[in-house]
Amino acid sequence: MKPYYHVLGAKQFEKSELERLFDAALEMEKVVAKGGDRRHEGRIMTTLFFEASTRTRLSFESAMHRLGGGVIGTENAAQFSSAIKGETLEDTIRIVSGYSDIIVMRHTDIGAAKRAAKVASIPVINAGDGAGEHPTQALLDAYTIRKEFGKIDGLQIAMVGDLAYGRTVHSLSYILANYQDVMVHYISPDNVRIPDNVKKYMDEKGIRYAETNDLDSVAGSIDVLYQTRIQKERFPSVEEYEKASGQYIVDAELMSRMSKHAIVLHPLPRAGEIAEEVDEDPRAAYFRQAVNGLYIRMALIDKCIVESKAN
Ligand code: CP
Repeated sequence: MKPYYHVLGAKQFEKSELERLFDAALEMEKVVAKGGDRRHEGRIMTTLFFEASTRTRLSFESAMHRLGGGVIGTENAAQFSSAIKGETLEDTIRIVSGYSDIIVMRHTDIGAAKRAAKVASIPVINAGDGAGEHPTQALLDAYTIRKEFGKIDGLQIAMVGDLAYGRTVHSLSYILANYQDVMVHYISPDNVRIPDNVKKYMDEKGIRYAETNDLDSVAGSIDVLYQTRIQKERFPSVEEYEKASGQYIVDAELMSRMSKHAIVLHPLPRAGEIAEEVDEDPRAAYFRQAVNGLYIRMALIDKCIVESKAN
């Protein structure tokens, strides 16, 4: 089968490719400022979302429209696609491959995007696979860090909250592993610690990291506080969720102990772990981060289509 350029996981990106992608996203900012262009007129993107989404689905759809293409799809594919009648993911993907030029898929199962790519005859982008990965989120996170600081090398980055089920921190770790002298602080309740396979990867890449449940001990020395939601929907029991919830709240008091140049990121949605009083602080970068998702996803759609055509 013809090889297509898929985006399935964050480990597939090396530093040179990341830097080219970030430069392309910067160009996309200019394209949006001009009102978009028509480079993918006549092409169609399918969005297949088996899990809820606001930012990822809508920014991908906006991105395709900004590039002149069309969008078809379903926002509740588990219920409103023929999956509910028993159609396999593989058959759904085979069918959608005949209707469109690129698939963006969010699914409940770890590895679902890889399964889709095996049978697709068009590029597939992983928009989140269960508690596995969310590579396009990590790309926009890294793009945001690079825009805010002008670099990623040498930064101290704290990932806070649900590091077990929060797929964005897995993918962001893999992206950060490309950069020099980065230090990652994994800060979480004991029952949602960063998985061993992520730590093993960081060890293999020689990236420094530390694990703690004490946010206060690092708040004053970090450059980036990457806060996450406790993923209630993925816990095996209410008791386990309650053990993890409510432990880390970013509020004005915590911000007063952070460095003047530090930023706060969050993939969003938030569920109380960043107080609204923080929103007015110029260091609160999470809404800027969400907008950056549009530019990164425009660059990714363009790359998938152009590189798949070249093969
Ligand atoms: N960050 C993120 O994936 O947001 P959505 O779930 O709204 O797409």
